[in-house]
Amino acid sequence: MSSAPLDPQDYEDFRVFLEQSCGLVLGENKHYLVTSRLSRLMGEFSVNSVAELLHLRKAGGRSGLRERVIEAMTTKETYWFRDVFPFDILKNQIFPEQAKAGANLLKIWSAACSSGQEAYSISMAVSEFQQARPGTLKNVQITGTDISAAIVSDARAGRYDSLAIARGLSPERRDRFFTRDGEHWTLRPEIKARASFREFNLLDSYTLLGRFDVIFCRNVLIYFSAENKRDILARMAQSLNPGGYLFLGASESMANYSNAFEMVRSNPGVVYRKR
Ligand SMILES: C[S@@+](CC[C@H](N)C(=O)[O-])C[C@H]1O[C@@H](n2cnc3c(N)ncnc32)[C@H](O)[C@@H]1O
Repeated sequence: MSSAPLDPQDYEDFRVFLEQSCGLVLGENKHYLVTSRLSRLMGEFSVNSVAELLHLRKAGGRSGLRERVIEAMTTKETYWFRDVFPFDILKNQIFPEQAKAGANLLKIWSAACSSGQEAYSISMAVSEFQQARPGTLKNVQITGTDISAAIVSDARAGRYDSLAIARGLSPERRDRFFTRDGEHWTLRPEIKARASFREFNLLDSYTLLGRFDVIFCRNVLIYFSAENKRDILARMAQSLNPGGYLFLGASESMANYSNAFEMVRSNPGVVYRKR
């Protein structure tokens, strides 16, 4: 199957659709990216070109196509204990603070959680903290959300192949927190039980999610417009309890997007605290 070149108007319509539906900003000349990511859907939707697929999407022609197109266009890259420092800040600063304050319940949101590595790394950090400080942080709830139904289902399963398991996870943590079945590794119930997952678009209202003490929003806003970044950060500030913390990706910053947070420097890394 070959893919005909994209007509400039089709490309522009698709660019607008993507930004409005999931926030993703496509540059002007990303025809190759669109073609390479969407061509894998051609067989599934019985079309002969990406242009045809875009027309079908625009016509609202096929159930599930809109979601599958968004899934194909978004980047799902993730791994265990990504950037390391957020998990060290949790264990060395935020968890001790909460334990000292005698917090009954700690609520953590992994926004744009992909296949769950971030949420479950947080849960492993909780177990490690509890081992060092028995009797503390007994009630931690981690909510993982992502726009992709398929990836949320993977996260919920908590089962990973050998390739995924090796990325960022030490053999010690792997053996302690997973059980092996053949080529796959399944999380132990203790780690899984703290996390729940649901489909959720960051452009939608956060009111029904409730309030959190810590939010991880990493490696997703980097794809969004300045306007959406400002709006999302303002709404995340409203979703945090007083003094709550927000982690961004290692290559992302708050610069000019929000003054609702103060930067707390750690060595290494930074976290943002709600003012
Ligand atoms: C690169 S991954 C980051 C995963 C994890 N936070 C990390 O840093 O390792 C980005 C995730 O954002 C999700 N995503 C993209 N747009 C979204 C939106 N509008 N709402 C919620 N999730 C979105 C994608 O499906 C993908 O799983």
